[in-house]
Amino acid sequence: MPESRTIQCDIKRFMSHFTDVSQIGSTADGGVNRPFGSEADLQLRAWLIQRIGDAGLQVKVDAIGNIWGVMAGSDPLPAIILGSHHDSVPFGGRFDGPVGVLAALEVVQTLQEAGYRNRRPLGIVSFTAEEPNPFDISTMGSRTVAGRLTAQQLLAARDGNDRSLELAIAQAGGDLRKLSGIRKTDQDLFAFLELHIEQGRRLESAGVAVGVVTGICGIYRELVSVTGEANHAGTTRLTDRRDALLAGSELTLGVERLLLDRLSWRSRAANNREENAPAAISRDSPEEELIATVGRFTIAPNAPNIIPGQCDFTVEIRGASSSAIHSFAAEFGTLAKRIGAARGVQISRRVILDQAPEAMDGTVTDTLRAAAAAMHIPCCDLFSMAGHDATHIASFTKAGMLFVPSIGGKSHCKEEETRMDDIASALAILLETTLRLDGLDIDA
Ligand code: GLV
Ligand code: MN
Ligand code: MN
Repeated sequence: MPESRTIQCDIKRFMSHFTDVSQIGSTADGGVNRPFGSEADLQLRAWLIQRIGDAGLQVKVDAIGNIWGVMAGSDPLPAIILGSHHDSVPFGGRFDGPVGVLAALEVVQTLQEAGYRNRRPLGIVSFTAEEPNPFDISTMGSRTVAGRLTAQQLLAARDGNDRSLELAIAQAGGDLRKLSGIRKTDQDLFAFLELHIEQGRRLESAGVAVGVVTGICGIYRELVSVTGEANHAGTTRLTDRRDALLAGSELTLGVERLLLDRLSWRSRAANNREENAPAAISRDSPEEELIATVGRFTIAPNAPNIIPGQCDFTVEIRGASSSAIHSFAAEFGTLAKRIGAARGVQISRRVILDQAPEAMDGTVTDTLRAAAAAMHIPCCDLFSMAGHDATHIASFTKAGMLFVPSIGGKSHCKEEETRMDDIASALAILLETTLRLDGLDIDA
């Protein structure tokens, strides 16, 4: 693979690190199960701390448990940091997160070993709890660093077994009582670079090795709680039932119905045959993306001979604009009222995440594209419908992301896979981009 400079990352070392990390929390079927707070999360933290120290970087675990490794620069300037997260979704794949952390380690270690004299401090980070977790706070580490989570919110968080987040963070090496000073600004961080797998199949379809991310979708999540009446499954007549599962099921199918209606509005609007499409689906924004998912669903008492009295589920909505997300959430609310009344059940809704879409920084994306072009690595631009830590870092400094193709578009499952050749290309671009950003003579 072509390089414009003599300093090169070592893909074999990356692969060896990747093999080690994939074994921590590995499942028999080839995936990993390493959610925040698990034994595997703690083991991987220990592995990373050891490895970052071995690479000659100064290691620091901050109050929320983010792991940093930094090499000092020659000038008193804000740092360039590369990184991602090391936790996984329950029973997920090996690549989501660790690829970015290990790539960061590889780039910074390579520069360190080459004796590169960096002007700015260069470093790596592995953020705490990027994925959804039992405390219902995802992208926890990056959100805290960006000042988007308060100590009060964090100290109040407990999991379903009444374990406090404070304890889980303490086990991870942090301390929720010492959060003051954790917040970073553009005076601390000049730029943040995150390599990640695409988690879709657009790069694979386009036949390119890397994608430069232009922006990251907004993510909205709510907990829906349906309370009906548990009763005898044999003796309760159909007309006397207040079945929480049936109401929850109707709402779940309703989410799909709303999406399908929106799709057909959109295609009719795009074909210029429909004048009255809702504003969020106007003909002016035919590219606008929106998707929604019911991903977690539980019922109680959950027994074969009891009509379910309780049903709890999450609704997640993602999109390229906050207004489209909120108008979809409002449509869902109308549906919930109608179904609740029709079935005689109580439906309550609680928003647990409302994160706006975020654009990536123009200087960083231009530098990533220029680095790829200099090395003749084919790349294209793309918008991310997956959430990432870079969203929050982009709220206070320059952030950029590079994607590598996911084979078959598979992610959040054991089949997650990316070609090492593509990761080698991404490493070369990241290294070149880091050098170019270090050389830039602009202030934060
Ligand atoms: C991140 O994993 C996401 O849910 O998009
Ligand atoms: Mn993920
Ligand atoms: Mn991820």
